[in-house]
Amino acid sequence: MTNITIFGAGNIGSAVAGIAKKAGANVQVIDRNPDKAAAAAEGVAGAKFGEAITGDIVVLALPFPAYDEAIAAYADQLAGKTVVDVANPIDFTTFDLALPEGATSAAEWLAGKLPQSTVVKGFNTTFAATLATGVNDGEPTVVQLAADDEDAKKSVAAFIEAAGLKTVDAGPLKRAQYLEGYGALQIVLGVTEQTPWTGGFKVVK
Ligand SMILES: NC(=O)c1ccc[n+]([C@@H]2O[C@H](COP(=O)([O-])OP(=O)(O)OC[C@H]3O[C@@H](n4cnc5c(N)ncnc54)[C@H](OP(=O)(O)O)[C@@H]3O)[C@@H](O)[C@H]2O)c1
Repeated sequence: MTNITIFGAGNIGSAVAGIAKKAGANVQVIDRNPDKAAAAAEGVAGAKFGEAITGDIVVLALPFPAYDEAIAAYADQLAGKTVVDVANPIDFTTFDLALPEGATSAAEWLAGKLPQSTVVKGFNTTFAATLATGVNDGEPTVVQLAADDEDAKKSVAAFIEAAGLKTVDAGPLKRAQYLEGYGALQIVLGVTEQTPWTGGFKVVK
């Protein structure tokens, strides 16, 4: 059985926890508030930030500025694991991408910080509501993935598809640059109320 740990019990953390449970995985959710973690989805094991990771696939469903704290606390435990970066690193005052100096994407930056982990970019181009329901505009929600390691990418695709959603392979991790621009634009359209938070961009497969 797949073991998945999710950091963050917010919108995306809860939605991904629901997907992982639906896929039949053992799911641990880690949050600063362990009660909130335990309530992220039915059947998950809640844990407090600082407790040990039990998953082999680890989803960072945190705001990008919180990644530093997770890396500082968990880099050793994340070694050898598949780490999924969901972030849309945005400055919400300007809606420009907000990345550390010299970084080309959050995912590539994360891979540089976790050289012993395998980073997969995913879930950043689908609003939480379309992940939670598994449906976007009447069709299964399509999650876009990018990674250099094909096996890691396939393992993430496998649990998403086991829950009834679909995936597309955007290619190597450098394509996170495209996915993060796409994610940022989708947020701009949502904030300006041109598209609904229950929809956004729909990939037809
Ligand atoms: N919402 C979407 O539709 C959407 C779509 C695609 C991608 N994303 C990306 O998904 C990520 C999470 O977004 P969200 O909408 O789920 O946010 P959210 O609902 O605000 O949840 C954020 C979670 O991160 C935790 N957190 C915040 N700061 C932390 C810190 N310093 N250390 C540890 N935990 C911390 C929060 O914990 P507490 O409960 O302790 O506050 C909360 O559980 C972001 O990177 C976002 O760009 C979101």
